[in-house]
Amino acid sequence: MAEFGLLDTDEVDAPGDEWEELDVSDTEADRVARVQDREFDEFRKRIKNTEQFKVEASVFDDATYGALYKLVQDGHIDAFGGPVSTGKEANVYTALADDREVAAKVYRINASDFTDMRGYLEGDPRLEELGGNKKAVVTAWVKREFANLGRARAAGVRSPDPVAVERNILVMEYLGTETGRAKRLGEVDVENPETAFEVVREYLRRLYDAGLVHGDLSEYNIVVHDSELYVIDLGQAVTVHHPNHERFLERDCENVAAFFARQGVDTGGEELLAYIDANAEPREDD
Ligand SMILES: Nc1ncnc2c1ncn2[C@@H]1O[C@H](COP(=O)(O)OP(=O)(O)O)[C@@H](O)[C@H]1O
Ligand SMILES: [Mg+2]
Repeated sequence: MAEFGLLDTDEVDAPGDEWEELDVSDTEADRVARVQDREFDEFRKRIKNTEQFKVEASVFDDATYGALYKLVQDGHIDAFGGPVSTGKEANVYTALADDREVAAKVYRINASDFTDMRGYLEGDPRLEELGGNKKAVVTAWVKREFANLGRARAAGVRSPDPVAVERNILVMEYLGTETGRAKRLGEVDVENPETAFEVVREYLRRLYDAGLVHGDLSEYNIVVHDSELYVIDLGQAVTVHHPNHERFLERDCENVAAFFARQGVDTGGEELLAYIDANAEPREDD
């Protein structure tokens, strides 16, 4: 039986201000795609013809191939594996790097629900200036997801180790085994819901304490890997500067509490929110 546990906070760095400067000017991937030399052309043809990319080949723009190419050239990816998930805005693939498996989350710039994203970008001091430039929004979004993963980990919340970011692609630690991706909390029989609930509650508290609200936390964005709970999908996570961060926190608490209440845990959204509010002192200094 999995005994979900927490990372000892002594083992992790104090939450820091490791926000990256957001540079959304022309990316290396755009330059690669524009130059279209023979090597890149062949790379793109090869990828387009592989089974796992066939379906998406039509929706990937040239610069996405440029970004994949750049990730290969920089050694973050050696070979592409199969698809893990096809979502509303992004597809996740496995890939090999050296001898370890990584996950590559590829945002489809044209398919992205731009209006949805904008709601989360509002009030984020790092993203506010981007205005209506869709590519810039997606590029910034991916960089923020990368930074949020680092920030969550620094706060003692298990989540995928971020590896690299290139234009609309995020490369991170792969959670899972050779037999497949880590299961979502909603896909497993939770044998010890009380313990699992306490861990997720502490994750919510630690994130909030570090000035972050996940914004889409539920049994769909928590996975079980190595008998531990991991939080994923931090692209929409906002800082406490976001005008609606309290509403997002409330919704996260409602979703998490509803899931665990169905597992027999005596909890509710309001109670959980009150616990987080009473036990976190959100940082505001970024
Ligand atoms: N690092 C990862 N390792 C293994 N599987 C992953 C990883 N990141 C995402 N996944 C899988 O892909 C699915 C979609 O990824 P997610 O980041 O939640 O994007 P979205 O929900 O926005 O499409 C997840 O539910 C999970 O099953
Ligand atoms: Mg998700």
